[in-house]
Amino acid sequence: MKPGPGSVSVIGMGYVGLCTSAAFASKGIKTVGIDIDEKRIEQIRQGRAPLYEPQLDSMLKKAVKKRLLTATNDISQAAYTSSTFLTVGTPSRKDGSIDLTSIERAAEELGTALSEKQSYHLVIVKSTVIPGTTNRIVNPILAKSSSKTIGTNLGLCANPEFLKEGTAINDTLHPDKIVIGANDKKSANTLKQLYMRFYGKNLPTVILTSPETAELVKYASNAFLATKVSFINTIANIAQSIPGVDVNQIVEAIGRDPRIGPLFLKAGPGYGGSCFHKDLQAIINFSENLGYSPLLLRATEGTNEQQAEKVVELVEKLTGPLEQKRIAVLGLAFKKDTDDIREAASLRVINLLMKKKGPIIVAYDPLAVPNARRLLTESVEFAQDERSALKGADCCIVMTEWNQFKKLRAKDYLALMRTPNLVDARRLYDPKEYESLNFAGVGIGPQE
Ligand SMILES: NC(=O)c1ccc[n+]([C@@H]2O[C@H](COP(=O)([O-])OP(=O)(O)OC[C@H]3O[C@@H](n4cnc5c(N)ncnc54)[C@H](O)[C@@H]3O)[C@@H](O)[C@H]2O)c1
Repeated sequence: MKPGPGSVSVIGMGYVGLCTSAAFASKGIKTVGIDIDEKRIEQIRQGRAPLYEPQLDSMLKKAVKKRLLTATNDISQAAYTSSTFLTVGTPSRKDGSIDLTSIERAAEELGTALSEKQSYHLVIVKSTVIPGTTNRIVNPILAKSSSKTIGTNLGLCANPEFLKEGTAINDTLHPDKIVIGANDKKSANTLKQLYMRFYGKNLPTVILTSPETAELVKYASNAFLATKVSFINTIANIAQSIPGVDVNQIVEAIGRDPRIGPLFLKAGPGYGGSCFHKDLQAIINFSENLGYSPLLLRATEGTNEQQAEKVVELVEKLTGPLEQKRIAVLGLAFKKDTDDIREAASLRVINLLMKKKGPIIVAYDPLAVPNARRLLTESVEFAQDERSALKGADCCIVMTEWNQFKKLRAKDYLALMRTPNLVDARRLYDPKEYESLNFAGVGIGPQE
């Protein structure tokens, strides 16, 4: 069955592409999900999400059952839809610069698939790409492989994605804005109309820009958020040396100033996830090639890298030398409600611990263990649950803010651990309730 006019195709069935596809289908818009990964496509066909994201599984099941979402490895199917989103990965190269290989390949194959198509088709670059990618890379590749002139019966937009893993479906259904970067009115209007169908009366503010502005909006957004994290971690590290100071109270106070605001100012082990580090590296590299060195963004990254050392320092302060000490790491995912461990702070902390002499590391995460096994050395043990991880431990580091870890009380730590040293890297607990343990938290001054 061909999807027909008004339908959408999405190339790249990762976090962004799959959540976007499931959300489109949930609004009755026929969607074709395309990926080169055959296993992933087979799973989607069976209505099973190949990655964890709250609400995604049930949404996907319904969409597949109603045949509103189909999945294929065959990119030529995109030609039977009206618009195609590119949501492939844009990883970092070793030097931090963006690797556009997947975007280039997808654009070329899509262009070829569209070469025989008579009616209008819109291509939307939703992947995060450095300014100029849509116009200077995707445009000529598409034009060449489709033998069409972009802006005539082949439209092109940049339309960055702002969803957050862990709340991706909700974010897709209720974004705070939509940014559309286009060179011609028809491309911009076609995409806006598609979003009007999707959101109906609840269409968020649509900001129309050039493709380059839209591309830079995404980097500005991630760079600002990452800088907030490194800023508050800087304050936390200062606070940590002053008896009687708690960074959380500082945030409570400064957050009341409307120019500052309380959000995204949570001191912790440093940011992780697939985007912040990669995007900061990409924009730093891009900017330096333009002849401008973005010192602030370098400091944001440097502070983040250093934050893992701060966590390990807290551990050593409590335990002394780590030789033969059993260290329980609670949480591996870069944040709660995801199985994603890409660039997770837990990995940086574990790798630093492994460089020390002789600690025994036992880790637990409700979802991320299978992903972590692929990245961590065999010398890390994995526990069945948080309680088994704590059994006989000399120190516990809370690395991810999972709700189930919040339920562990001081008495649980006391009952299970050999020595009740607790490093709360996520500031999950109220220190007052854990006074019976040797407790240290990021951004809490030493006990007098
Ligand atoms: N993950 C996030 O939270 C998030 C949020 C906003 C923006 N983004 C951006 O969105 C893009 C996608 O991110 P993601 O996390 O969904 O990536 P991902 O790595 O989870 O998924 C990418 C998918 O693209 C597929 N793919 C690669 N090349 C392909 C090709 N030529 N044809 C078809 N499929 C191909 C891969 O097999 C994979 O399934 C990136 O640019 C990222 O920076 C991600």
